[in-house]
Amino acid sequence: MSQVESDVKTLVIDEQEVSAQAGQTILEVALENEIKIPTLCHLEGLSDVGACRLCLVEIKGNSKLLPACVTVVQEGMEVSTNSERLQKHRRTILELLFAERNHICSVCVSNGHCELQTLGQEQGLTHVRLPYRNPELGVDASHERFTVDHNRCILCTRCVRVCAEIEGAHVWDVMGRGINSVVITDLHEEWGKSTCTRCGKCVQVCPTGALFDKSKIGSDHPKYPDFLPYLNLMREAQ
Ligand code: FES
Repeated sequence: MSQVESDVKTLVIDEQEVSAQAGQTILEVALENEIKIPTLCHLEGLSDVGACRLCLVEIKGNSKLLPACVTVVQEGMEVSTNSERLQKHRRTILELLFAERNHICSVCVSNGHCELQTLGQEQGLTHVRLPYRNPELGVDASHERFTVDHNRCILCTRCVRVCAEIEGAHVWDVMGRGINSVVITDLHEEWGKSTCTRCGKCVQVCPTGALFDKSKIGSDHPKYPDFLPYLNLMREAQ
């Protein structure tokens, strides 16, 4: 058997037999086969960190739910992506996200262009059963072009990863632990005084209204996170 043949894995996702390359994640294989798994922290072109847990899937023979974006396929795996148990968990995860900070869509700059909002709608979330925490979090508008509103941040770390992995600037990071975690620029400098290159990639990949362009306030504010694979392609071509 050649090396290439032995690197091919066969598995079942939602009763559909699919093949994959060794090392691919369940999410990658599902996407290749047009099987939709909800995600928030995942973004094509960035490394995966398994932060949001929305992509949890069930694997036969394993009592734990595993995040599809960081779980590598195995020969003979039987994966379920949309069971009742998973739907319940996804709903609860979304409710926790909505309850944790101040996500008030009607007064958000990303209303209508927010991945959290869209997922809530897709999962049929009509209300949150958990008490809202209503934290008093700051807004840093010190940057000449952009603003970070920590009330809208879901700590997906896309901004941290795009800044490090694509821009190579390493300006964003996460400070604190658990419920006290916040994204910061440099060593908790104001964004406007940080070493930010002003490229705006972090703003484009932010799934919510946490990072936004000041010039777009009060107007239609779409973001374009799909540009990353093209940047990677161009980089590889050079
Ligand atoms: S997309 Fe997999 S954990 Fe967030």
